[in-house]
Amino acid sequence: MLRDEDTSMIFYDLDFLEKRIRYLQSCFPPNTLHGLAVKANPLIRVMQHMSAISPGIGVEAASISEVNMALYAGYEPWRVVFDSPVKTESDLNFSVEKGIHLNIDNLSELSRVNGIILSKPSATAGTAGIRINPQVGVGTILESSVAGEYSKFGVPITTRRAELEQAFLAYPWLTGVHLHVGSQGCPMEMLIDGIGILYDFVLEMNTKRSASGFPPISIFDIGGGLPISYHAETPAPSMEEYVQKIGLRAPLLTDPAHFKLITEFGRWSYTNSGWTVSRVEYVKRDPAINTAMIHVGADLFVRECLNPKDWHHEYSVFDKNGSLKTGKDDHPYNLAGPLCFAGDIVAKNVSLPVIEEGDFLVIHDTGGYTFSMWSRYNSRQTPRILGYRGDNFEVLKERETVEEVMGFWE
Ligand SMILES: Cc1ncc(COP(=O)(O)O)c(C=O)c1O
Repeated sequence: MLRDEDTSMIFYDLDFLEKRIRYLQSCFPPNTLHGLAVKANPLIRVMQHMSAISPGIGVEAASISEVNMALYAGYEPWRVVFDSPVKTESDLNFSVEKGIHLNIDNLSELSRVNGIILSKPSATAGTAGIRINPQVGVGTILESSVAGEYSKFGVPITTRRAELEQAFLAYPWLTGVHLHVGSQGCPMEMLIDGIGILYDFVLEMNTKRSASGFPPISIFDIGGGLPISYHAETPAPSMEEYVQKIGLRAPLLTDPAHFKLITEFGRWSYTNSGWTVSRVEYVKRDPAINTAMIHVGADLFVRECLNPKDWHHEYSVFDKNGSLKTGKDDHPYNLAGPLCFAGDIVAKNVSLPVIEEGDFLVIHDTGGYTFSMWSRYNSRQTPRILGYRGDNFEVLKERETVEEVMGFWE
């Protein structure tokens, strides 16, 4: 499947991915909407495959482009959850008209949405929730933790509780809540704490809303963030256990008679289903360390290169005929990308078999938050992306041409 021009390629195991999503559905109540986070994997062909699994699969969109990509991929508006923290008036108008589920980020956005709803009595009935920061603390990765005392996302529950209460008692249409604690690095207990804090608040609000004749808050979006494992030897937390623990802390939440849950798992859904391969173009041998020069660097592995202490992958080496290499070289390897800055090293000091020019390096667990973060720096062509089921391969996205790269800059 690797042509001469394919200096690197990305693969998705579509059977694995489908099994994973079916397992996800089996863990949650049947009326749950699983909004798979587009930011983890925006490939339209993959979105289409996911949509075909069942109507219970939706998307979580972080921008108006992601919203439109989902609609283009065939998702009905009610399967689209729109979460950006900087939605414009025009984004909001579009969403209300279409009937997309809006997660409102802040109190100013809330009053804008109210104005739009009042001005469009004939708009398709969408639903809306407000993002609340439960302020449960940060995980091991600061950059992806969003439920600390301070966060740029959502309305903080301790300092803005009075305004939140007022909002739920002013707007009958506000029937949802949303939280997201962080992405990778936040333990399951922290996610459960966040859900618990919101659950208690929602029950209290529902008693007050019922006294005013308002419909109850019945849409509870728990966000994503359940961590996965990037290490072959470390098991990941179990989704089944997560849902059981949600049920223990917040019993009515898993009862479809009371709540419709929304989830937004991106990393958990996609990451372990994808891997990347690069040809090794050169090997530099120094007394202390070898450097394997490969065709993907900080363009595909932005976080790994810029924040290496937090992000890890497992690697395998294959010879030019595709046979797995075993054993260990006496000297470790730096895996260096093709970009023009010293930090363009995907991993340092990795113990690997002897690598030679023309070998293939496989980087495991790259199905989420890699290609979606592609950087244009140095104008490299994006790799060909293939999906497979057993021995059947399909092109999910062709390798970019030089002309297409030029088009980006023109
Ligand atoms: C609002 C929101 N929902 C869902 C996600 C997906 O998180 P994860 O991929 O860790 O499940 C993110 C990721 O940053 C997010 O910001």
